[in-house]
Amino acid sequence: MEQKIFNNRFSWLLLFVLISFLGSVDAYKNYTVGDSLGWFDNLEKPHVNYDKWVARKNFSLGDFLIFNTDNNHSVIQTYNFTMYKKCDYDDDDALDNDTLQWSSADPSSTSIYPVSIAVPLRKVGATYFFSSDYDGEQCKNGQHFKINVTYGQGLPRSLKDPSDDDSLAPISPISGDEESAPDTIVPASFDHPHEVSTDDSPEPSNSVSLSIFSKFLGTQLNWILVVLGFTFSIC
Ligand SMILES: *[C@@H]1O[C@H](CO)[C@@H](O)[C@H](O)[C@H]1NC(C)=O
Ligand SMILES: *[C@@H]1O[C@H](CO)[C@@H](O)[C@H](O)[C@H]1NC(C)=O
Ligand SMILES: *[C@@H]1O[C@H](CO)[C@@H](O)[C@H](O)[C@H]1NC(C)=O
Ligand SMILES: *[C@@H]1O[C@H](CO)[C@@H](O)[C@H](O)[C@H]1NC(C)=O
Ligand SMILES: *[C@@H]1O[C@H](CO)[C@@H](O)[C@H](O)[C@H]1NC(C)=O
Ligand SMILES: *[C@@H]1O[C@H](CO)[C@@H](O)[C@H](O)[C@H]1NC(C)=O
Repeated sequence: MEQKIFNNRFSWLLLFVLISFLGSVDAYKNYTVGDSLGWFDNLEKPHVNYDKWVARKNFSLGDFLIFNTDNNHSVIQTYNFTMYKKCDYDDDDALDNDTLQWSSADPSSTSIYPVSIAVPLRKVGATYFFSSDYDGEQCKNGQHFKINVTYGQGLPRSLKDPSDDDSLAPISPISGDEESAPDTIVPASFDHPHEVSTDDSPEPSNSVSLSIFSKFLGTQLNWILVVLGFTFSIC
């Protein structure tokens, strides 16, 4: 009889541990830039407003931004404010580690096809995105935004790059990233459009802020302690 109760309690404990584990894995978010409007300039899509899209969202390390656009628009990520203001990226800047070209526009292309790019957030602090090409015309027409990336729960193992020693992030509690692949290049998936974040609704985004998350985990830890105490008091 006692054995049975113990097993029951033990299952509950396992369940709680599992839930808290899943909760932490779940907390990385994928945000679809511009939601259903995608990543375009005002001339092409008059209703895009990336400042509005960014507002009230909290971005953390390990989150992805999904850019749904076409081959006539580019995705430039930079940590360099000067570059962002300039609205223009040229190939010389490729030497600058502060700027990454995830997708380039092809003005010579006669056919326009959709492009989808997933960009991981790997650095804490101000991060800028814009579309270059056409002398910054698209960027100057609203195709740019700034976000502030917070530490959150830190980079997941899969995004850690051993050679990335200039990361602004504090040292992660998870050590040993010997097997982490430098997967800076995320393949564009043309035929699998990401349907991840569909927060067109006015309610706040469902991203989990650090404070909310730790509060959540704290509650769960309390429950685990209660269950543990109960288990031992029975035995
Ligand atoms: C977010 O996007 C990345 C890159 O496409 C993918 O590997 C990951 O599984 C996605 N995560 C979620 C929670 O959808
Ligand atoms: C490509 O973008 C440029 C600059 O925004 C625009 O002038 C041009 O019409 C676009 N081309 C196509 C085929 O949409
Ligand atoms: C930022 O970009 C500008 C021009 O794009 C460049 O001159 C400058 O050196 C860059 N700053 C840093 C800190 O890399
Ligand atoms: C960029 O990164 C490479 C390799 O990590 C390094 O050798 C180079 O000095 C860096 N360049 C700048 C401008 O920080
Ligand atoms: C980013 O957010 C953090 C925490 O809210 C804040 O301390 C920091 O000043 C912000 N950085 C920028 C560049 O806005
Ligand atoms: C973003 O973070 C702020 C401050 O930590 C918090 O008040 C707000 O509710 C968070 N927003 C979302 C959508 O999680």
